[in-house]
Amino acid sequence: MDRQLAQKRIEELKKEIERHNYLYYVLDQPEITDEEYDRLLKELKALEESFPEFASPDSPTQRVGGRPREEFSKVVHEVPMLSLENAFSKDELRQFFMRAENLLGMEIPSYCCEPKIDGLAVSLVYENGVFVGGSTRGDGIIGEDVSENLKTIRSVPLRLRVNVDGTLEVRGEVFMSKKSFEKLNENREEEGLPLFANPRNAAAGSLRQLDPRVTSRRKLGFFAYQVVNPMKLKLKSQWEALQWLKEAGFLIQGEEVRAQSFEDVWEYIESLQERRHDLPYVIDGAVVKIDDFSLWEKVGKTAKAPKWAVAYKFPAEEKLTKVKDIIVSVGRTGALTPVAILEPVIIGGTVVQRASLHNADEIKRKDVRVGDFVWVRKAGEIIPEVVRVEKSKRPEGALPFKMPDACPVCKSPTVKLPGEVVIRCPNRSCPAQILEGLKHFVSRAGMDIKGLGDKIIRQLVEKKLVFDFADLYNLDLDTLSNLTLVGEKNERKVGRKAAATILRAIENSKNRTLKNLISALGIRYVGEKVAEELAAHFGSLDAIMSAQEETLLLVPGVGDRIASSIYAFFRDENNLRLVEKLKNAGLKLKTEEKEKKTSGALEGMTFVFTGELKRAKRHEAEEMVKSLGGKATSSVSSRTTFVVVGENPGSKLQKAQNLGVKLLTEEEFWSMIDKHAPEGGL
Ligand code: IVH
Repeated sequence: MDRQLAQKRIEELKKEIERHNYLYYVLDQPEITDEEYDRLLKELKALEESFPEFASPDSPTQRVGGRPREEFSKVVHEVPMLSLENAFSKDELRQFFMRAENLLGMEIPSYCCEPKIDGLAVSLVYENGVFVGGSTRGDGIIGEDVSENLKTIRSVPLRLRVNVDGTLEVRGEVFMSKKSFEKLNENREEEGLPLFANPRNAAAGSLRQLDPRVTSRRKLGFFAYQVVNPMKLKLKSQWEALQWLKEAGFLIQGEEVRAQSFEDVWEYIESLQERRHDLPYVIDGAVVKIDDFSLWEKVGKTAKAPKWAVAYKFPAEEKLTKVKDIIVSVGRTGALTPVAILEPVIIGGTVVQRASLHNADEIKRKDVRVGDFVWVRKAGEIIPEVVRVEKSKRPEGALPFKMPDACPVCKSPTVKLPGEVVIRCPNRSCPAQILEGLKHFVSRAGMDIKGLGDKIIRQLVEKKLVFDFADLYNLDLDTLSNLTLVGEKNERKVGRKAAATILRAIENSKNRTLKNLISALGIRYVGEKVAEELAAHFGSLDAIMSAQEETLLLVPGVGDRIASSIYAFFRDENNLRLVEKLKNAGLKLKTEEKEKKTSGALEGMTFVFTGELKRAKRHEAEEMVKSLGGKATSSVSSRTTFVVVGENPGSKLQKAQNLGVKLLTEEEFWSMIDKHAPEGGL
């Protein structure tokens, strides 16, 4: 494609992709499928790589995230990011606006009412309509530059949909939806990582990641609610500002209303409070603002908060209910977790009948006893938690809860490791641990065996048909088809057809990669990511099993704790027997070529290609460089190690010469590769 055509197509694609982003993330009305979207993005990426002179910071390809950073640099907010005063009752709310009316010497003609999103405030800066950076609120005066991370959020427009000359600053809230939050915590639980307490913490943690690729995976959203310099756009009110933000390509919540009287404001708040649980993201109140901007200046602000807006905080929904029992569940790693079984109550629109009491220390601190009445709420709207005991209602004779000395399932004496708060069942053949371990083994993070649900696995363990993971590979049609399933109304047999499907899924799982198998084994602290690194580094299960701790420490992401956990796992006789059985069952214990990272012969070197190559396509050559530990980028800089010059080179050749970067002919490049590439290379 010639340059001119390429430039035109790049511009077209940029516009088209951002239009689909807008349709999808802001209007929620996608016009094309995900596959079609990916195709457009791929086309743009390829064009930008071939014509790097047309790549630009506002391109949708820039959203995937750049390099990790050492730390965030600090940004001074030219207009400080204030906080809001809170009101906790209708009276306090009324008083706030009466004070404003006294200052103004007039009635407030209209209010803009908005949900108060429970996320974290950020400020975005646009120059001539292009996103140039953004920062967190920090202490209101100095925030952190999180530009790279903000770019990964699809509802942050990289280019405005309307023309704005000069600088424009837009503020709003970065949040995580309830669904993404639950998914994230599920994954973290599987990886043995600490859980986030609520979506706000999760959003904050994700936005403040030094590696933007992590932020990118975390699925954040951005709601805009403030134009910092509205006069410039001739906007007269907050309501107009919100409409303008939407036109400019921002996501606004769509729950905002303009109210003409205080009573209307109150009606809005009551209705919002009723609907809050149906919203896909967490809100903790409403923000009520005087609508007219000309009045904002007149009422002014204090050092901390404006006098033209107030946050009405919803009362935390806490319900009193009875603790019917405290049970102790046993997890995959043998950890004993006390759980309160509650008289069912509805909180936040769903029935709550269990709440984790976490561990012995927590139970002691809250002093929860069977028979107690307790106040229960949802932490961050989602996870039920016992807030406190209503001591006045404690029944006579209620005894302090004591964690059992023996595992509730297998009766082995429990242990407490030094430095840990958790009490554990040490028996690796405990049916509870086997059950949880099997659930993990068949999960998506493990061998991904579909059809083996909780109920079937439970029966396999209870009926002593399966003692370890390897036994799954010996199941037969008769055994499986005679197990029971829960049907619509009553129990029924699995049957031969479904059993055959499950057997096929088990058989297929033998082809999963080494990474899957390592993750499936459920070694403590080894989740999907570490498993992937281990597989790439060692290439076979045997190599991992015989590795010393020092060798394990060489793997990216593996620290002391993980290394000693892996080392110990493969020194346990039961585990060695298990691996032997898995081997005999025919599982793949080695990586495929493509999963393997060959030694980093090109480590630390950066290659740029220009012109046509004869022996392979450019992307293949780039793959080759990467597989040998090198980097391939599309533009030449002083950090470039080599520029490989093919036929009809482009402007990159000139640039390389200007910068004094070393040039390689295609032949020189391949001989360098051939020296290091494993057999079967290009
Ligand atoms: S307006 C001068 N509108 O609440 C401050 N804030 O408690 C202007 N928040 O820091 C803020 N939803 O992080 C505004 N619709 C909304 C909001 C909102 C959530 C947050 C924001 C602010 C905090 C103040």
